Amino acid sequence: MSMYNFCFHVPTRIYFGKDEISHLSELAQYGKSVLLVYGGGSIKRNGIYQKAVDILGQAGVAIHELAGVEPNPRIQTVRKGADLCKAEGIDMVLAIGGGSTIDCAKVVAAGAKYDGDPWDLVLDGSKIKEALPIFSVLTLSATGSEMDQFAVISDMTKNEKWGTAADCLKPTMSVLDPTYTFSVSKKQTAAGTADMMSHTFENYFSFTEGADVQKRFAEGLLKTMIKYGPIALNKPDDYDARANLMWAASHAINGLVAAGSQPAWCVHPMEHELSAFYDITHGIGLAILTPVWMEHVLSAETAPYFAEYGRNVWGLEGDIDMEIARTAIAKTRSFFVETMGIPQYLCEVGVTGDEHFEKMAEKAEVGSRGSFVPLTKEDILAIYKDAYRPGE
Ligand code: NZQ
Ligand code: ZN
Repeated sequence: MSMYNFCFHVPTRIYFGKDEISHLSELAQYGKSVLLVYGGGSIKRNGIYQKAVDILGQAGVAIHELAGVEPNPRIQTVRKGADLCKAEGIDMVLAIGGGSTIDCAKVVAAGAKYDGDPWDLVLDGSKIKEALPIFSVLTLSATGSEMDQFAVISDMTKNEKWGTAADCLKPTMSVLDPTYTFSVSKKQTAAGTADMMSHTFENYFSFTEGADVQKRFAEGLLKTMIKYGPIALNKPDDYDARANLMWAASHAINGLVAAGSQPAWCVHPMEHELSAFYDITHGIGLAILTPVWMEHVLSAETAPYFAEYGRNVWGLEGDIDMEIARTAIAKTRSFFVETMGIPQYLCEVGVTGDEHFEKMAEKAEVGSRGSFVPLTKEDILAIYKDAYRPGE
């Protein structure tokens, strides 16, 4: 199967670099009032909040606030934001934070234009017809939400976490200042690196032939993440490391490596169930599942693809695809565990047993249909069990 037809359209204006937050003054062109959406307070501690408030104030934009967006953002917070936008007639939404804050802001922006419960929009993206203009100042490199059409929202009262998507959820403008990520913790730096790598893997492993541009882009992104992830971990204020991770993360999911070759994703649906039941950090779950998934789907048919990854990303040499593939998978695991310090097993990150695995596997199976190697419920159960702690 050759590269298939696609439409590539990213309308997001990116201002990249130190102090580019000054461009928030341009919001005045889009309206008189903004809903400022942020998380648990990191933006107050590192001074970004005050900068944004000053710039918006000088530009004459009135500010309303939605604070306290949770990591793994909750539908209850989205509802609060959408209600506020409707009640106050707010013109636009500005997220300052990581993927959780941006995702929450996106569904708030769509919910503000929707006559019903925003959870409908999470369950069915085709119901998102319009949204208030969305802006973001990114403070954590990971999800790519700053330049994509996706948003992932949870209802923990039902153990549900689902992604939705719509073209109008692509931000109008995003500010990417790498210095804003200097204060990201080691754990979140590692998780973010794993997340952006997983986005690249989900797009990269595909049976589509002739999509060389996408493959080489993906390999370049992976090499960049593998080079700079450890540098950012050990020297949090290394500008080049933070800048490269930031720009690589945006491109891993904005369509550049997906368009024309993309299969359905399968590790993400498995991880979303982990977060839905155990509220674990997205990137940590992905790092634990990814090598187990790779081992599970490794076969005579897939070995050439994992070997291509090993040769082009890890510089491995040799003629036997299966051997190169196995070494590439081992390198991937050791990168996450030894280099980035991420636990290897689910039992180390708050997964307390296997009592929910059946239900989780059932739900994840639906999400992974059409993936590189389609997974049955039994496959997914086996992956969860191996990832939990082999032999126990
Ligand atoms: O809430 P605050 O106080 O801001 O603290 C956050 C949070 O505790 C902190 N943080 C962010 N920037 C910081 C910082 N701490 C210090 N300095 C900074 N500069 O980091 C913690 C985690 O933040 P969060 O936004 O949750 O992380 P991330 O960006 O990894 O987002 C994860 C969410 O995005 C979803 C995930 O499922 C998860 O819900 N995803 C969104 C996608 C998308 N929109 O395309 C795709 C992804 O695959 C993913 O599913
Ligand atoms: Zn992800």
